[in-house]
Amino acid sequence: MESEIRRKLLEMFTTGEEEYVSGQKISDELGCSRTAVWKHIEDLRKDGYDLEAVRRKGYKLIKKPELVTPDALRLGLDTKKLGQNICYRETVDSTQKVAHRLAQEGCEEGTLVIAEEQVGGRGRLNRAWHSPKTTGIWMSLVLRPQIPPHEAPQLTLLSAVAIVQAIEEITDIKVDIKWPNDILINGKKLVGILTEMQADADQIHSVIIGMGINVNQQEADFNDELSSIATSLSIEKGEKISRATLVQAILKRLEELYYQYLKAGFAPIKILWEAYAITIGRNIIARTLKGSIEGLAKGITPEGTLMLEDLEGKMHYIYSADIEL
Ligand code: BTN
Repeated sequence: MESEIRRKLLEMFTTGEEEYVSGQKISDELGCSRTAVWKHIEDLRKDGYDLEAVRRKGYKLIKKPELVTPDALRLGLDTKKLGQNICYRETVDSTQKVAHRLAQEGCEEGTLVIAEEQVGGRGRLNRAWHSPKTTGIWMSLVLRPQIPPHEAPQLTLLSAVAIVQAIEEITDIKVDIKWPNDILINGKKLVGILTEMQADADQIHSVIIGMGINVNQQEADFNDELSSIATSLSIEKGEKISRATLVQAILKRLEELYYQYLKAGFAPIKILWEAYAITIGRNIIARTLKGSIEGLAKGITPEGTLMLEDLEGKMHYIYSADIEL
């Protein structure tokens, strides 16, 4: 089905006042025959849309498909910019790589790259990121903030807050943030965020925020090594979660926080981040490339850098590390 017709058709199901949309109304609005309407509806069904047809009433959308296709994401997406341009792949090496390429080619701010599966997903320190088909959210977002390059890490913390809030809104599950950007449930990893930047010395061209969220994996989907350190929302909640709904909620929160940040700076975001962080006020070990430092996590600076007081009382400013709680 041509994408414009599909977009109009899906819009009728979300914006219409009445629950059922009549075949006549669809045919009028799309300017096509009733037979063509029926074909369009069948096409949607093939793509996983559950549409009920009732004589003399019309069609009703019962359930969206479980994929994260552009159509599934657009149905109910309440943002102005983020996710308005979507690059969707069934299988991809890494959404991060695609996003980098699109950013270089000048794609618009808010462009979202999302895939059902990544075969070369990667995390911080170039570690492999397990991204199996249709169970998680594997996506990268292109932003173009007019901020100094050294402030870009703040966007990692901002993204963590947006994801935590969206998870709470959609699932009612309370999660914790481990500095700088891991989201955990009972110490097990649920979300990883990888923020990368294309910039000159004094100007950002783009910031690519890569987000990996374990959503519908079951225990058996994690191998032995992963099952001791990772979990999914579905394991914690005991039911399947709609990935598309969660992506929409994340984009909405991210957009709100991002524009607030561009206007008011990092201070309001810092307060929110601290409320979710489990790292602060605890004894931790920070493993950096230069070695490990043990001490008390005192807080984060206004830039988002971790302040760690070692056992001798000396303060360390940590820009990048693995944290052991
Ligand atoms: C980490 O915790 O190390 C960060 C993991 C980031 C994974 C996401 S999944 C979508 C995007 N594409 C990638 O290859 N990585 C990020």
